[in-house]
Formats: sequence, structure tokens, C-alpha cells
Amino acid sequence: MPFPLNRMRRLRRTQTLRNLVRETRLSPESMIYPIFVCPGEKVRNEVSSMPGQYNLSVDNAVQVAREAEKAGVAGILLFGLPPQKDEVGSDAYDENGIIQQALRAIRENVRDLLLITDVCMCEYTSHGHCGIIKHNDVQNDPTLKLLADSAVSHVRAGADMVAPSDMMDGRVAAIRQALDSEGFTNTPIMAYSAKYASGFYGPFREAAGATPKFGDRRSYQMDPPNAREALREIALDIEEGADIVMVKPAMPYLDIIARAREQFDLPIAAYQVSGEYAMIEAAARAGWIERERIILETTTAIKRAGADILITYYALELAKTL
Ligand code: PBG
Repeated sequence: MPFPLNRMRRLRRTQTLRNLVRETRLSPESMIYPIFVCPGEKVRNEVSSMPGQYNLSVDNAVQVAREAEKAGVAGILLFGLPPQKDEVGSDAYDENGIIQQALRAIRENVRDLLLITDVCMCEYTSHGHCGIIKHNDVQNDPTLKLLADSAVSHVRAGADMVAPSDMMDGRVAAIRQALDSEGFTNTPIMAYSAKYASGFYGPFREAAGATPKFGDRRSYQMDPPNAREALREIALDIEEGADIVMVKPAMPYLDIIARAREQFDLPIAAYQVSGEYAMIEAAARAGWIERERIILETTTAIKRAGADILITYYALELAKTL
């Protein structure tokens, strides 16, 4: 029965009514805050293309972790900037690597906050690619061992969950097997399953010093025009033992999040990446958009599309203000 019997405006009349019928709610419990850990002491260098985000030495990373726990954020996602890089990314799986040091220090200072680590080679390799290079190409199978070693060393140092972001084939299975053989059968894997070769990672590459020295990542990350292929990637990661699957970036790929939500029953994470953050910050600074409103609208959109878990540089701020 159309108008005048049905009036959609009835339930929009007051804030209380709008709250009552709200379909999507943001909560810090389902948010993860990415941080960048660097060598040194008392370092807190702002990333110029990500105002409000910092390279933090371990002591400051501990403070931010405590703040995140207090604010009710579910977890932090740790990225490392090693003191030195080499061809095979040795610091990534070194017992005393930057991430391993950070994990041990943070673990002592928080209780419930989830410590999640990005597992990848690009921040640690001199060439900036996500795997070992031979004949100017990233070698898939030899990289798997290094990724598995990295994951194991993160968990030994105190990680609660590992998140491989390299996009090598077979890495979830390799990591699952390595963790299990070390007795870490209860450590979940959050796989960056549908990770696109995206221009939206630009500011991150400044933040993490991980720009490829030659070529690009298109031979391992996904081609942006493809959607069905993302569902295949996700299905394969699930078969290999992923506990949580991720779509990344988030806002330009809401269709992928929605399709993954329809097709799979696992928890789905979405990563609002550095470029998405930088665009909002830049436009807000120019006075072209209302910053807080846009933050709520974009993060809500990602959840409305079907993401259970939201990884965002706004997690800490949102947790404090929601
Ligand atoms: C590492 C990695 C990247 C991001 C997360 N893990 C960069 C890349 O693949 O180039 C991007 C995060 C962001 O842009 O916020 N492989």
C-alpha cells in the first residue's frame, strides 16, 4: 500500500527514532588500529602524507597500545620498519627484529588487546618487494618459508594473530602448517585474501618505507577490475585454513565486501587503507568536507557493506569519541 498509508519519514522524525531503527552500528570492539614501529627511543615522527599517524619507537608504541586498550579498540596491527634491509628481509624473522622487540614490550603492558602482525617481506627487503627476487621476478614458493618463519617468530614473541599481506599463493597453508608444528594450533590467521594492486597504498609506502625499487606489485596483488577472482582468492584461503578473510582497500571495493558477505560465513575484515585516510584528511584540511561526519559515514559504509571487522587509522580516535 503506497502513500498516503506508508510514510517513510515517520521513523526519521527524531534522533531517538532514527537510533531505534538503525541497521548498522560502529563499535570499537570490532576495530583494529594499525601502527608503525621503528628503531630508536622516544621517536614519534608524523607521516607527512598521513597527518595524525606516526612512526613510533617501541617505548611509544607501548604507550599507544595502552591507550588503544583503554579506549576499547579490539586490537592493533603492527608494521615494522627495520634498522636495516637486505635481499631476503632477514629482520622479518629475526628473533630480535623490530616487530619481535615491539611484541615483547607491548605484551608486558596490555592484557586483552589483540596483538596482530602484518606478515610480509616488503618492509624488510632492500628491493621493497613482498618476496624473494630472482630474474627480476618475485619467487612464490621460496618466499613461503620466510613468511612461515616470520609468522612463527611473531607468535613466539607474543602475537595473538598473524595477518599475511604478501599475496603469494599457498602462504596461508604454509603458515598454518608452520604454526601447528610449533604447537601454535590456536593462533588464528587473518588472511589479506582479496588484496588489490591499488594506488591507495601510496601513503603507507611512505609510512613503512616499502616502495618497490623496480616494477610494481601487479604480478602478485589483484587486478582492480576483477571481482569473481576475489571470490576465488577468498575460497582458496579458506581451504588453506584462514580464520578471517580480508578485503583491501575498503571503500573502492564495497562490492567485493558485499559479495564475499553473501557467499562466505567466515568473519570478513576490511582495511580502510592509507590513501583512503589521506584523502579524507586532505579534503578536510582544505575545508571541503566535514571531517568527523565523513569519518563516520565511510566507516559505517564499510560495515554496512558486510564487514565484521574494520581495520582503520581512525580506530583509536573513533574508540575515544563513539
Ligand atoms: C604490505 C602491506 C601494504 C599495506 C598493508 N600491508 C602495502 C602494499 O602492499 O604495498 C597497505 C596498508 C595501507 O595502505 O594502509 N604488503
